[in-house]
Amino acid sequence: MTALLEMQGIRKRFGELVALDGVDLSVEERDVHALLGENGAGKSTLMNVLYGLYAPDGGRILLRGEDARIGGPRDAIARGIGMIHQHFMLIPPLTVTENVVLGDERTGALLDRRVIRERVRELQSRFGIEVDPDARVEDLPLGLQQRVEILKVLYRGSDLLVFDEPTAVLTPQEVDELFAIVRTLREQGKTVILITHKLREVFAVTDRITVLRLGRNAGSLVTSATTAGEIARLMVGRELRELRPRATAGSRDVVLEVTGLGALSDRGTPALLDVGLTVHAGEVLGIAGIGGNGQSELAECIMGLRRPTAGDMRIGGADVSRDGPRRTRAGGVCYVPEDRRREGLVLAFTVADNLILGKQAGPPYATFGVLDPQVIEREGALLAREFDVRPPNPLAIAGNLSGGNQQKVVLGRELSSSPRLIVVSQPSRGLDIAATEYVHDRLLEQRARGAAILLISSELDEIRALSDRIAVMYEGRIVATLPAAEATEERLGLLMAGHESAGAA
Ligand SMILES: Nc1ncnc2c1ncn2[C@@H]1O[C@H](COP(=O)(O)OP(=O)(O)O)[C@@H](O)[C@H]1O
Ligand SMILES: [Mg+2]
Repeated sequence: MTALLEMQGIRKRFGELVALDGVDLSVEERDVHALLGENGAGKSTLMNVLYGLYAPDGGRILLRGEDARIGGPRDAIARGIGMIHQHFMLIPPLTVTENVVLGDERTGALLDRRVIRERVRELQSRFGIEVDPDARVEDLPLGLQQRVEILKVLYRGSDLLVFDEPTAVLTPQEVDELFAIVRTLREQGKTVILITHKLREVFAVTDRITVLRLGRNAGSLVTSATTAGEIARLMVGRELRELRPRATAGSRDVVLEVTGLGALSDRGTPALLDVGLTVHAGEVLGIAGIGGNGQSELAECIMGLRRPTAGDMRIGGADVSRDGPRRTRAGGVCYVPEDRRREGLVLAFTVADNLILGKQAGPPYATFGVLDPQVIEREGALLAREFDVRPPNPLAIAGNLSGGNQQKVVLGRELSSSPRLIVVSQPSRGLDIAATEYVHDRLLEQRARGAAILLISSELDEIRALSDRIAVMYEGRIVATLPAAEATEERLGLLMAGHESAGAA
């Protein structure tokens, strides 16, 4: 049987960087094919070559056994290839139907609205895609906007649908619903390529797997005949550590106590409403929730970066509600912010300068306010090595490091002062498996040392892997706090979507 799609020896360079180094990919018709790999492995680039966005520097593409030189996205669409991008390309003020037909060349001005609506409805019922055709896209949650993208691609007659990391923006329930649609697509004769780096998703919905590593095909597998361990090994190129059993939380000393906290967002709307929580020494309290439900404002209040409008915060029993960032930090609180490039680092500075940022005014880095570059470089080199920053060059410019190494610099600076409270926000966002593992190990090490950790993350796997207790934020409130053992993914997902009743045991 000829495969629907064969990509053979595809090469693509960006200047000096070889993004694709002779990649082969073979996709059978009516399969859901996972394209897996760490960040930067070349997944999006390979699919952009398929979609005609990039001209390859070598290799060839066969569609149903025939040579296809794909001249551009228009050509790709004409050949039945559709792409559901990571960032939706919809026009917010227009309706669902308008977005679906927009830009379709066959539609023209001649087709009457009724005919178009009828076509869209047919697609919706055939593929089980529920969304109000008259709703404005801007009023829809992301999960539904994604359905509009899918309809758009189907409307253009695509047989091969490429999803680039479609689940990154979805709640667990939305992921399940998306996968139901993907299964229907397959039943109805479509072929799907699903880009992801989440192993759970691979097992939930795919038939075959291609793993990319560093721009090469690291292996092709049949999903039902492989294991998570084997896939992870191919992705990372080495064995992963076993998840260790964790001891229960250490002491019962309360480190952070927040009661009745209120705060406004940057736009002046209520962002936090009557938030209460405690974090003990040696404990990780996870804050789960979809981004934008008050998590950022909570972290900023605790760090003294945002003034609360109500309530109070105590650290080690002392009222810190009115403390600014300097005092907060001086009290043994450190912060790994969500946006490491803007808040965590000065990108134009060296690694060494970033590692001592905030401490540079005092000894040993400065005497009477005069910086000692040699001491800074020496200390920077030590910390860079200790926190596995690659390259371990204290004089490298922070902005040129990979995301994982930038995060290691932030951790190196924040954790080296033995804090008693650590506030971390989205610590593994954008990091690959190896770097994520590294960050998690460092945090658990701090927990074992007795630090209290407030972990804010929209990744449920991360929250569940690290937390002793889990609080869920929704629309500025903590809607439930559960012991980790009771926090099933389903229950957390419902709470994150605003179903407060799921909090009751
Ligand atoms: N337009 C581009 N210009 C320069 N480098 C790029 C471009 N697109 C991707 N890259 C680089 O190519 C490599 C592969 O990237 P990408 O295909 O996006 O990986 P993935 O989707 O697997 O995370 C990365 O090192 C990335 O930085
Ligand atoms: Mg990508």
